Formats: sequence, structure tokens, C-alpha cells
Amino acid sequence: MKKFLIAGNWKMNKLTSEAGAFAEELKAKNFTNAEEVAILVPFTQLAEVGSKLAGSGIGFGAQNVHFEKSGAFTGEISVPMLQEIGVDYCIVGHSERREYFGETDLTVNKKLKALLEAGITPILCVGESLEVREGKGEQTFVANQVFADFEGIPRNMATKVVIAYEPIWAIGTGKTATPEQAEEMCAFIRGVFGGMYDNEAADEILILYGGSMKPSNAADLLAKPDINGGLIGGASLKVDDFSAIVDAAAQLK
Ligand code: 13P
Repeated sequence: MKKFLIAGNWKMNKLTSEAGAFAEELKAKNFTNAEEVAILVPFTQLAEVGSKLAGSGIGFGAQNVHFEKSGAFTGEISVPMLQEIGVDYCIVGHSERREYFGETDLTVNKKLKALLEAGITPILCVGESLEVREGKGEQTFVANQVFADFEGIPRNMATKVVIAYEPIWAIGTGKTATPEQAEEMCAFIRGVFGGMYDNEAADEILILYGGSMKPSNAADLLAKPDINGGLIGGASLKVDDFSAIVDAAAQLK
């Protein structure tokens, strides 16, 4: 049976009080596929969300982390700090962090290694800009991200990573990749990963699509064979919209 992960990336939204209420409402939905659902929230909301979701099966996590365990890195949060809160997931290399906060494939690679060592599942974001796609360079661009981001990561660790293909031109723009475009790139990424490791590893790894996924387009995207779920921004901020996407995945089981 196809495995899914429906993950909400709240980005820099909600106060802790709102996050707690959201988590309670989400838990009350009693999803049959709760184990395939997660929300990625700002650091300040992690403890509250974690305690509210306890026993629900729904996962939770952070949107970024530093790769060093401790030290003079003012303003940063380490993997042991996330571990202490009990997070399941952490986003790495989101295009917004690559664009506005100087994230590079080198720092992404270090973060993946630090999280994997600690048993926290990284959700690694890759994806091309509009300019790159218009120049037909999207496959080369994304393949190079995958090569660099997985550099030196052994197979048994690599298959634990969740990859999210997020074309930058589809993020927050309302412009979704068509199911065919999304499937084409997710299948391509699976092939690249299979080339780096092997075919069984490629079958095992979860590859999500992200970029203006919403209740109206989720079922068509999720039905594609190489798309194992979604990383959802805007539509993850409302319990009903997010739940509709979770239900769309449940119906495809
Ligand atoms: P939107 O769903 O708002 O387009 O955001 C996608 C995203 O960046 C998720 O990480």
C-alpha cells in the first residue's frame, strides 16, 4: 500500500494560544491515517503543540535547526533541544531559508546528518525557481541539490529522509504545478535517488509535493504514483482545509 505524509508547514504564523487550539481540534478529528499526518510549527509553539497532540498519532516538528549540538550561535536552536521536546520531524532547506537566510546545500547536508543521528526525520525541500524552469534547467538543478544534500549520507540513513519537491514558482502564488508536472519531477527525483543508492531505496523514500496544495487540487496530486503526500503552507493554517487534504489521502489508501 502507498505510504503518505501530509505535513503542514505553518511558516511564521499563529501564536501559541492559537496553535494549542488548532492541535486540539486536529486531534479531535480522529483521523484513521493520523500516523501519516504532521504539523511543522514555529519553535515557540513546539512544546504546546506536542503536549496537545500527545496520544493522537499525529506528528509534529520544527521548520529549521542548527547543525552544531551547542555553542556560541546566538539565536539558534540545536538538535538536542528539539530532541528534548520530542519532535518527530524537522524541515531542512526550505526555499525561503535558502533565499532569505543564506541556507546552502552544505549547511543542509550538515543539518540532515545531525538530525538523522538523533533519530529525527528531516523533511528536505528541493525545487527550482521560475527562471530555471523557463530555461528548462529544472531537472539538472534539482538533481544537483539532491546530490549535494545527500553527500556522504549512508543508505540506511538516507531512506529515512522525506524529500519535498517544492517548485519555488508554486509557493504561496496560488499557481500549482499540474499533477503531471509534479509527478514528472517526483519520479525524476526518485530516479536520481535510486541512482545514488539503489532501486529498493528509491521505492522506500517518501517524496512529497509542495506549492499551493489545497483541498481542491490535493486528490489529483496525491493520486500520482510518485507523490507520497504534501508539504502544505497556506492551506495548513485552517483545520478544515488541512483536514480535507488529510481525508483525500485516506481515501486513496
Ligand atoms: P503554500 O502551500 O502556501 O504554497 O506553501 C508551500 C510551502 O512552502 C510549504 O513548505
